[in-house]
Amino acid sequence: MSTDGRSPVIDFDHHSDAHADDTVGSYRRLRETTPVAWTENHGGFWVLSDYDSVFEAARDDDVFSSKRLEQYGGPGLSVVIPKTPMHFHIPIELDPPEFRSFRKVVNPIASPAAVAKIEPMIVKWTTWFIDELIESGEADLAQVIGVPAICTIDWLGLPVEDWQIYARSHQATLAEPTDSPLYKQAVEVDLPYGTEQMRQAIATRRAEPRDDAISYLVQQEVDGRPLTEDEVFSMVELLVSGGVGTTASLVSQTLVWLYEHPDVRQELIDDPSLLDRAIEEFLRYFSPTQALARTVVKEVDFHGSHLSVGDRALLAWSSANRDPSQFDEPDDIDIHRWPNRHVAFGVGVHRCAGSHFGKRMAKEMLKQVLERMPDYTVDLAHLKRYPRQGVNKGWQRIPATFTPGTRLLPPGAVPAGVSATSARS
Ligand code: HEM
Repeated sequence: MSTDGRSPVIDFDHHSDAHADDTVGSYRRLRETTPVAWTENHGGFWVLSDYDSVFEAARDDDVFSSKRLEQYGGPGLSVVIPKTPMHFHIPIELDPPEFRSFRKVVNPIASPAAVAKIEPMIVKWTTWFIDELIESGEADLAQVIGVPAICTIDWLGLPVEDWQIYARSHQATLAEPTDSPLYKQAVEVDLPYGTEQMRQAIATRRAEPRDDAISYLVQQEVDGRPLTEDEVFSMVELLVSGGVGTTASLVSQTLVWLYEHPDVRQELIDDPSLLDRAIEEFLRYFSPTQALARTVVKEVDFHGSHLSVGDRALLAWSSANRDPSQFDEPDDIDIHRWPNRHVAFGVGVHRCAGSHFGKRMAKEMLKQVLERMPDYTVDLAHLKRYPRQGVNKGWQRIPATFTPGTRLLPPGAVPAGVSATSARS
């Protein structure tokens, strides 16, 4: 695609090694010089990096569409650049007004009250993951980040023994280079396997509902008719995709940072009631979902640039979250920061449906790590990050040592055949 008079033009690729080496500096440079700019990479797209442009675009669905429009940017998931080979996701790939009826279906199972109901499940899986490490005194702390994956799979009603397959495949499609064996494994083996399992679960729950999110979804209606199996599938796959990697990314980055900042770690150990506010700040600072995309569907003059129909646009939540016009000392973590109008969960109608679930899981994981392995030490020299940091940022390996502790769950609390070992490193 030619730049066709689009300006300013920059050379930016959120999936490049240079960006991964310094995501914060890379966005800071853009924000300070060209907060709305065009790059030719991945077929060409606008990068929106300051708070105002990200906020405005995310709230303007008439111009910035989330819809899957294959004529622009090719086939695949519309909310990432480049589009990845994933099934159609509902409601994230719909615009209002159609969007609204579907989002209404999802809201009740992710509300604060619904999350309070599944709290015992979150506590159980977190306890079990830490049980699996606690006696040894050394572990890859990235293993604990399997908690969000297994909780999401259990909540939906999918077989928990397969949690790694879901975690691995969704992570790989977003964070592995497209020519890597892990990406190939995800696209050719794991995603088709997961698809088959989800479709089977949807069919089974229609006939025999249980107490899980899939059973709820198959019984719902939109606009006076039942959801189709394809629609339920599109919602279930999105919930898997939203649930498995994001909270893991948040907690993994937070654990490393807390090791490097023992004073804050001690403050949270001494007073865990500070965790809620601290988690909002960790969300702002780390922005697990770094940036997502839209497609321009109406010609518009936007912050000094002219955007044309079909242009793709990247909304950098992570960069908006470091904008000094919104946040004092944006590159420092202040666990007492309040108010904290971060956009780590997005903005506007598509704001994260799983935010309460994600925050509750993050809180439990941090609380238990701080309680049960308060003196953990991270081997910073051997950290391994996700290969690409354009969509999800985080650590893939966190070698750590700590004073050994004791298991808490009785034998048999978790079904035989479930393994806590991460399949991702
Ligand atoms: C720290 C954890 C999380 C972060 C940072 C995060 C981030 C986001 C962001 C930025 C969006 C906005 C998408 C857009 O505007 O295009 C979003 C949407 C969404 N998230 Fe999350 N998410 C998290 C946890 C979860 C969890 C645990 C689930 C469910 C199990 C979930 C499910 C969803 C769904 C269904 C949407 C689409 C909402 C819609 O289109 O209306 N997320 N998330």
